[in-house]
Amino acid sequence: MGSGIAQTAAVAGYQVTMMDVVPEQLALAKAAIAKSVDKLAAKGMLDEQQSVGIDQITYVENFENVPGADFVIEAATENPELKLKIYAELDSLARPEVILASNTSSISLTKIAAVTDRPDKMIGMHFFNPVPLMRLVEVIRGLATSDQTMDTTVELARKMGKEPVEANDSPGFISNRILCPMINEAIFTLQDGVGTVEAIDEVMKLGMNHPMGPLALCDLIGLDVVLFIMEVLQRDLGQDKYRPAPLLRKMVDAGYLGRKSGKGFYAY
Ligand code: 3HC
Repeated sequence: MGSGIAQTAAVAGYQVTMMDVVPEQLALAKAAIAKSVDKLAAKGMLDEQQSVGIDQITYVENFENVPGADFVIEAATENPELKLKIYAELDSLARPEVILASNTSSISLTKIAAVTDRPDKMIGMHFFNPVPLMRLVEVIRGLATSDQTMDTTVELARKMGKEPVEANDSPGFISNRILCPMINEAIFTLQDGVGTVEAIDEVMKLGMNHPMGPLALCDLIGLDVVLFIMEVLQRDLGQDKYRPAPLLRKMVDAGYLGRKSGKGFYAY
């Protein structure tokens, strides 16, 4: 997600610093960005000026550029402890007027904001995979997010070529509250032997006009991410209707995480 966000901001003309603690991830991100931009340019979806925007991306392994940043978008792993640690550090390094936006898919924005001294400048900017192609940015208002922070973030999303939609801070927000239970139910349907992987995906593609089936989509998102979101929904909304399918848990335990691990419901 981070590379897609960096790419989208860079082609929109912003000067971007992309940070990752793992150097190999930065190399992978750089290659993925170049490949994606080549593809979009070949299809006429980007002009020359937009394409060269990615040459301006700086890749770093630490927070050295945070004090110079005008806007920060964090897209770290969905690990609450890690996020809280990152935000304490970002808050101490970023200038006081700077907005901190999280691409979290389900962690409470209000909780993250509470570890900072700028809860009014904390907001969710939830992008969708694959970021360069998906139009939506779900903009999440935490309990203390100010109207000014909301307006600035909505404007930034538009300038990045996205369609912002506002949601309130609640487990899974709008998108994952609806999407992940649908995917989880598809996994129950598979587990119960109602249909094969292919049959389940074909039904949703042909019968409901979804661009891809729920199991293929789960592979794209990552089985571990879907499991984590279902656990958040079950725990924080306190309802067993959100219980993760045992097959999902079993596959994650086996290391079948979807596209990123080479195996999920399909082999890659
Ligand atoms: N950059 C540039 N091009 C890309 C790309 C990227 N990052 N990713 C895919 N493409 C290209 C493909 O390579 C392909 O190119 P080609 O036609 O030249 O081979 C092209 O896009 C179209 O792909 P396909 O023809 O294979 O497939 P589709 O026409 O179905 O489009 C799709 C692909 C846009 C991914 C479409 O299937 C889709 O919209 N799927 C649903 C995605 C979705 O629901 N995403 C949201 C996930 S939820 C989420 O992210 C939130 C999180 O919190 C969980």
